[in-house]
Amino acid sequence: MAHAPTEDAGVARAGEAADATPEASVHPGINDSYFEQATIRPWRRRFEREGREVFDHRHAIVEALALQPGVAVADIGAGTGLFTMLLAKAVGPAGRVFAVDLMPHFLAHIRAQAAAQGVAEVVTTVQATERSPSLAAGSVDVVFTSDAYHHIEYPRAYLAEIHAALRPGGLLYLIDYDRVEGESAAWLLEHVRAGEREVVGELEAAGFALEGPVALRAGTLRENYFLRFRRTP
Ligand SMILES: C[S@@+](CC[C@H](N)C(=O)[O-])C[C@H]1O[C@@H](n2cnc3c(N)ncnc32)[C@H](O)[C@@H]1O
Repeated sequence: MAHAPTEDAGVARAGEAADATPEASVHPGINDSYFEQATIRPWRRRFEREGREVFDHRHAIVEALALQPGVAVADIGAGTGLFTMLLAKAVGPAGRVFAVDLMPHFLAHIRAQAAAQGVAEVVTTVQATERSPSLAAGSVDVVFTSDAYHHIEYPRAYLAEIHAALRPGGLLYLIDYDRVEGESAAWLLEHVRAGEREVVGELEAAGFALEGPVALRAGTLRENYFLRFRRTP
């Protein structure tokens, strides 16, 4: 089943001037496999497995965010909640983690996991749309996203909403596959639409200043880049 990207002609949305042409999907069909296989087990096997770089380094990645207890974090494209649960433990009982995803079955699974792990009070699931993370303005201190930016079909509209959701001076951490034309594997070149430089350009155009790459305590990411941005006014 192909999931057709939605296109509401004539309705100006976040990130679009009233007279601008509607933003077209930058990668139609990128999320089809999630709609087609709306179960948890195969995705847990895929996302929560040794050998997947962000899984192997998950603890060091969360540690590198240096989250203060009590802060509010959005996990954009939370998937099966691999990072959501670690973020919830990092922000503590006074913090909040908004697990944002397009797929209701992932969000239901995250709610069940949060209850099982005693962090249900900290974790709130949020049903996103293709164009919006559905977060309230000024609701988070930190945005984290792992391996999900290339799944965002309407980055201009989406980033405008993330910008609004982040409090002034807030941080955005982005991990995604390092796509290098002529070097990356064929599947990656096909699956991931943009390389690091292009992604940085999109973030900068949306009002985020690149602060630089994020270092891990031990080891480095080889297949992914890990960047920190700060929201500019
Ligand atoms: C490759 S998974 C990454 C999951 C998780 N962050 C991890 O690293 O294990 C990409 C996720 O992005 C989600 N996604 C796609 N489009 C989205 C959107 N517009 N808003 C929120 N999540 C989205 C998908 O449903 C999927 O769960």
